[in-house]
Amino acid sequence: MIIIKSPAEIARMRVAGRYARQICETLAKQICPGLTTQALDDEAADLMRRLGVRSAFRGYRGYPGNVCISVNEEVVHGIPGARRIAVGDIVSLDVGVQADGFFGDTAVTVMVGIPDPEVSRLVAVAQEALAAGIAQAHSGRRLGDVSHAIEVTAQAAGFSVVRDFVGHGIGRSMHEDPQIPNYGPAGRGPKLQVGMTLAIEPMINLGGPEVRVLENGWTVVTRDQRPSAHFEHTVVVGEKAAEILTPAGVLERSS
Ligand code: MF3
Ligand code: CO
Ligand code: CO
Repeated sequence: MIIIKSPAEIARMRVAGRYARQICETLAKQICPGLTTQALDDEAADLMRRLGVRSAFRGYRGYPGNVCISVNEEVVHGIPGARRIAVGDIVSLDVGVQADGFFGDTAVTVMVGIPDPEVSRLVAVAQEALAAGIAQAHSGRRLGDVSHAIEVTAQAAGFSVVRDFVGHGIGRSMHEDPQIPNYGPAGRGPKLQVGMTLAIEPMINLGGPEVRVLENGWTVVTRDQRPSAHFEHTVVVGEKAAEILTPAGVLERSS
């Protein structure tokens, strides 16, 4: 069952979404060669404490981090640790928070220094794929239109879409119905209705679509060890267009 949110609930999700995005962007700016992913996670904990929000991830099914940090061949759910970020890496940063009873969830992939041109194109296309999906998230469309737009964008660029992990509805829970695959036929699935809140999150691989989960039970990596990019926004379906609840570049002040 897809839960439609009232305008008052959407106002609260706007706040949660902006907190998530603010933390994500503040951390993204701190990424530099030599930094461990643990140091970035410590900073995330600090920011969340200062802003008075809770990590949506810490403790979720036993997840040990405050955020997910996935480097290069890591697709999603990278656990922060001793890995040091290096020049030429791409770093996917996924931030989820709970504030005032609602969740916000957003992710970006950051390039460190100047990556290989193909890798940098991968990152750009993953971001375009997210925008193409969001552009379908309005009334009169079906969920499959979102999925299809993402797939077409990635495939036209010669990249592949991860099929084993999907986007999701979001609200009073981090994961609500519906599941949102990043592939599939247009014109299928539930009709989108104003007030549906969705976390749309393409995971796009430079090589093949196959992934596996590491022994730690969390970190998803590409089977061919080639890089992967991930972008995510929480949005609300609108009459003519979606509203992004985790918009880029707002709320610069973090304290
Ligand atoms: N943020 C992820 C998502 O976009 C969920 C991460 S769950 C965690 O759905 F436990 F790994 F943090
Ligand atoms: Co996320
Ligand atoms: Co998500």
